[in-house]
Amino acid sequence: MESFQITADGPQARPLEGTVHVGGAKNSALKLMAASLLAPGISTIHNVPDILDVTVMAELLRRLGCTVDVDHPLDADPTAELTSGIVRIAVPEELAWEAPYELVRRLRASIAVLGPLVARCHRASVALPGGDAIGSRGVDMHMAGLRELGAEVRVEHGQVVAEVRDGLKGAALWLDFPSVGATENLLMAAVLATGSSVIDNAAREPEIVDLCEMLVAMGARIEGIGSSTLRVEGVDRLNPVDHVTVSDRIVAGTWAFAPAIAGGRVTVKGGVAAHLDLVLDKLLDAGAEISSEADGFTVSVDKRLRSFDVVTLPFPGFPTDLQPFAMALASVSDGTAMITENVFESRFMFAQELARLGADVHTDGHHAVVRGVPLLSGAPVVAHDIRAGAALVLAGLAGKGVTTVAESHHIDRGYPSFAEVLAGLGADVVRLPDSVA
Ligand code: UD1
Repeated sequence: MESFQITADGPQARPLEGTVHVGGAKNSALKLMAASLLAPGISTIHNVPDILDVTVMAELLRRLGCTVDVDHPLDADPTAELTSGIVRIAVPEELAWEAPYELVRRLRASIAVLGPLVARCHRASVALPGGDAIGSRGVDMHMAGLRELGAEVRVEHGQVVAEVRDGLKGAALWLDFPSVGATENLLMAAVLATGSSVIDNAAREPEIVDLCEMLVAMGARIEGIGSSTLRVEGVDRLNPVDHVTVSDRIVAGTWAFAPAIAGGRVTVKGGVAAHLDLVLDKLLDAGAEISSEADGFTVSVDKRLRSFDVVTLPFPGFPTDLQPFAMALASVSDGTAMITENVFESRFMFAQELARLGADVHTDGHHAVVRGVPLLSGAPVVAHDIRAGAALVLAGLAGKGVTTVAESHHIDRGYPSFAEVLAGLGADVVRLPDSVA
């Protein structure tokens, strides 16, 4: 498996300098692709990131009977500035309704086809995704909500099987926690149910707003978009659409953390500052300079930042996906930070890898105390998931010596050309092929 090799002399030794371009959000594009199942005909999703997860979702949709073309500008022209492409999905009148384990285990977001399949086919069998390096990721809220909408739902031979004889019926749904995945699945089921539904304590992430906007363009009737109460009036049929994916706030946030950790000045074109209010405020308070532009923002850091505490929460709280970057930054900041992880219980596996780079991190349950040190020291480490992997690469830039991040395929799942973009900012980051790692 490929690794990334980072050679550095510590923070500020080789400041990052330049502009990065942020494309469409992975966590939105995958759900928009699933939402296309709701309408027979050809839907086109624009601004789709060039990452492996999109390829796997395309494969799953083909398995369900769709014809899917994934077109990325970089495939035709490797020097193209765009990092995002177009996915055309031709959805048949009759869909297959079984999502097999061999695909679902490669992409947990595959569970997003459950709601659309029950709505369209009145039955679905989608493999239970199972756990991963950041937590157990249950689907109990997805199943409970579908039951409220009238489906019979059970787990059988590792598959979530849902059936409804006369179609879904609108209902009042209350989520125990504003789960992103459950909100999406229940929304996609409710738009084709008979009558009205209310989803209370719904997630409010910009990716949910994006999905609502696509559904409304398809003919769905949804009120309360962007709030924690979504009101849906079911319709008989939806139409295919052309939709542009919302900008990836987690990738934009990653590039905001890059100069904070390594030093330098990075302009994040296409990043939406309003989706990162809390994150950018924290970096500003810590001593970074931040300026907003019409089409993005710039973060400059020419000194050691002050430590800050982080508590991860559903949007608009601090995103759990940026927590590893906050921990990497705290490890080289001035002072002590308390980091509380409220969303994914196992995300602190990352702390053990960061400690291999010399970070002073102590974890206890879902809290971590990080005492900043002036300099990390390069070491071999392992990427256990997308965000932890990218955060280790940035931490490597704040270390003296050589850091190798093994299992870098995780990083490629979330960041188009991460090593190459960092190299473009002046960092010494290269990919090592399997045989060298
Ligand atoms: C999505 C994102 C992920 C992000 C997360 C929170 C995608 C592909 N992934 O994941 O990057 O970190 O939102 O912003 O969009 N839970 C249950 N039962 C359920 C549903 C969820 O216990 O039925 C738990 C999960 O195990 C987790 C927490 O709720 O601990 C949050 O999960 P959720 O918001 O659903 O995240 P995902 O949709 O999996």
